[in-house]
Amino acid sequence: MRIVSGIQPTGNLHLGNYLGAIRNWVRMQDELAEGGECLFFLADLHAISMPHEPAALHRATLEMVAALVACGIDPDRSVLFNQAQVPAHAELQWLLNGTARMGWLNRMTQFKDKSRKNREGASAALFTYPVLQAADVLLYQTTHVPVGEDQKQHLELARDVAQKFNNDFASEDAPVFTLPEPITPPEAARIMSLRDGSRKMSKSDPSDMARINLTDDADTIVKKIKKAKTDPEPLPSEAAGLAERPEAQNLVAIYGALSGETVDAVLARFGGQGFGAFKPALAELMVEAIAPITARFRSLLEDREALDAILARGAARARERAAPTLEAAYRALGLVRG
Ligand code: TYM
Repeated sequence: MRIVSGIQPTGNLHLGNYLGAIRNWVRMQDELAEGGECLFFLADLHAISMPHEPAALHRATLEMVAALVACGIDPDRSVLFNQAQVPAHAELQWLLNGTARMGWLNRMTQFKDKSRKNREGASAALFTYPVLQAADVLLYQTTHVPVGEDQKQHLELARDVAQKFNNDFASEDAPVFTLPEPITPPEAARIMSLRDGSRKMSKSDPSDMARINLTDDADTIVKKIKKAKTDPEPLPSEAAGLAERPEAQNLVAIYGALSGETVDAVLARFGGQGFGAFKPALAELMVEAIAPITARFRSLLEDREALDAILARGAARARERAAPTLEAAYRALGLVRG
């Protein structure tokens, strides 16, 4: 098993990233069978596809390493690095640009969401972003990619690219790329905004009240949960009663993801009660889960040298692992490599 996943270092980590992806990364790392390996990276090259401030990206990248280690990613057991220190990612993207089709990229919902009404003004990087993401996973003969629901479409594209490349340029018994499988824990597939149950919790939401950051202190968490949008009805006693109630559904799902219970189990306890009772219980559970991460994060951030060293070592290990596949891709395309 080779597990690979990435996260963009744009600002604070939030609960959606944690429950949708990182907690799952940590589990996979901790439960990995002998012979398997995990690679986790900061998608800093992806971050330049949107307008950004260089100093903020630099700072966010270091903060994100500290946050990942604070969440439980162990740089001794997993390969932890940033794309910018492993040029093979950008190189393979170029090679795969020859295989990816415009029509495939045109169907990507993330590009539509992020370019909104300004398609002509969007960067070319935003459009070819999924090809870089395909390179990220295909470089390492990845078998499994833990991601939230929102990234599944990009993973399907990575599989399409791998398949077409193998068909066009490799023999059946010696494919260049492995087809990766996305893995999404069903209980945390999509954590929604606290202000609008139809939008995902996102670091680009202009309202900080819409998300729980992993750096929020207990008072802030309590305040955000208290102010979270809900409806006036009491909670139902079964999951079916949450249909058409996106905000209630989101809060119950978050509760279950944090406590390790199913939605039905949470509702068996809270069914019939109003949000006045449920919200304080949710806030307490959340503070309990996040406070230790915040404490570790703050102390790690103080040791800049250690963070640099983690990234340098991770990048060296990633470069080694990427080299054979990159070489095979160059050769398969007929490019002369000496
Ligand atoms: P990014 O940085 O937006 O998010 C990182 C991970 O968090 C998940 N996630 C969520 N899950 C549930 N609910 C939410 N509200 C929520 N918000 C974010 C995302 O699904 C993701 O798993 N393009 C990727 C980064 C990337 C990548 C890759 C991932 C680049 N190359 C290769 C996997 C493999 C991104 O921008 O994720």
